Order: sequence, then C-alpha cells, then structure tokens
Amino acid sequence: MACSVKVGIIGGTGLDNPDFIENRQEKYVDTPFGKPSDALILGRIKGIDCVILARHDRKHTLMPTNINYRANIWALKEEGCTHIIATTACGSLQEEYAPGDIVFLDQFIDQTTKRVQTFYDGQLGSPVGVCHVQLAQPFCRHLRGLLVESAKELGIKHHVSGTNVTVEGPRFSSKAESNVFRSWKGSIINMTTVPEVILAKEAGISYASIALVTDYDCWREEEGAEHVSVEMVMKTFRQNVDKAKNLILTTIPKVVEMDWNSILTGYKESMRLSVMLPTS
Ligand code: ADE
Repeated sequence: MACSVKVGIIGGTGLDNPDFIENRQEKYVDTPFGKPSDALILGRIKGIDCVILARHDRKHTLMPTNINYRANIWALKEEGCTHIIATTACGSLQEEYAPGDIVFLDQFIDQTTKRVQTFYDGQLGSPVGVCHVQLAQPFCRHLRGLLVESAKELGIKHHVSGTNVTVEGPRFSSKAESNVFRSWKGSIINMTTVPEVILAKEAGISYASIALVTDYDCWREEEGAEHVSVEMVMKTFRQNVDKAKNLILTTIPKVVEMDWNSILTGYKESMRLSVMLPTS
C-alpha cells in the first residue's frame, strides 16, 4: 500500500508567503530546540496536504546565522511532513549557471562556522545517542528527479545537478574566496542549505532544493561585470519567482503518485544505523 505523504515547503527569500495554498491555517508551534522561523502555514496544494514555512520569517527579519534550522525541520517533521521542497536564491560560481536558471542541487560544501548541525547534541529533550549521519548523497535523488521532470515539462532552463557552497554570511564573499570556491568546482553559493539539508537527513525526510540563480557572485573580471548586491538578488528573484512556484505546483501531484514506502523506510533505517546508543 502506498504510504501517505505530506510536503513541507521551505520558502526562501522572495517565496516565503505564497498565495497558492488552499484552506490556509496558521499554526504557531514550539519544539525541544525552540521556535521555528515563523508560523507553519497548513493547507492543501492541488488537493494535497502541505505545510509552508518562511525560512527568514515572513517579515524577513532573520539573518542566515540566526535561523533556527533545527526547530524548522523538527516542526515540519512533527507536523507529519515526509518530504521537503526548499527554495533558495543563490549566486553562480560557473559561467554556465546563468542568472534566471534553476539548479537542482545534489552536493554541498560546508563553509558555515556558527551552526549546530545535529539534533543529537546530548542536551535535555534531544534524541538519545551520538549520530554520525551519512551524507554521500545529501539530497533525495528521487524527489530531485521529479523536479527535473517538471522543469522539462514546463520548459524551464535548469541544471539537473549542482554543488552548493554554503557560506556563513551575512556578508557576501570576497573575490579571492569566490575564486577558491570556483577552483573547488562549486556550482553555486548561498547561505542556508547547510545545515538544513543535514537536519532533514537526520529526520529521515526526503529533501530536495530548487535553487534559483540570481547573480554571478563577484568573480567575473570583464569590464562592467556587476558584483552581487541585495538589490540584484531581489530583482532577479522577483523576475523568476514564477518558475519556482510552477515547479512546486507541477511536482506536488507527482510526489503523491509515487510509492515512497521503501525509500522512506530506507532513510529511516539508515538513520537508525547512524546513531550510536550508550552502552550499558
Ligand atoms: N544568495 C544569492 N546570491 C548569493 C551570493 N552571491 N552569495 C551568497 N548567497 C547568495
């Protein structure tokens, strides 16, 4: 029998309060790790149960370092989400990833410095044990596959894979840093994918990311090349936000049609084996 699914949508900059959810209900929750970024918006998209959460809160008051990633993922898990589609604005580190393109991430390089990356931190209320989560494949390739399928159907220019460099922020990178990330073969750069994807993995959730390229960061040398700015990010995101919306609307019915039983059981089992329990 197909298992029931619920899709969490983490809206990044510019897609944090979408109007396409029906039977909308706001729910403020608490978790053992504190409060999530904002209320959970419960409702249905194309008749399917969904939960939307604004990563930076709907007023955009939270800078990337201060987002309570653990509370966000925990709250979505508690609400019954089996899947998360995350959206994020990002800079490009390679010529072929052009502003306006969509990237379905498959890898990350962690350049964050101030974020807790596990639920298993030994504190009161946290799950028991020491967790060494496997991250060879951080993103769910099945959910990513459905997003790719949707992008093809919709005729959206996209990249089926990409390595994300997550920096701590809130500042943008220096040119020297940007060139180092390029030499590491990073495709794009943002400030939020880590630790979100890691915590989703620990929670046994199928997680995929729709990354929208908004700029070329600051590595380009050509005459007149513009460097990333908040204005540039917001402008490009606004111009392309419908791509992310349409991808979500087209993909959600596909998620329900698929049989996730063995995939989700596999994720849970892998997590069970990643936790070292105290010996007696
Ligand atoms: N988000 C959007 N563009 C970015 C960039 N160039 N660096 C980090 N985060 C970003």
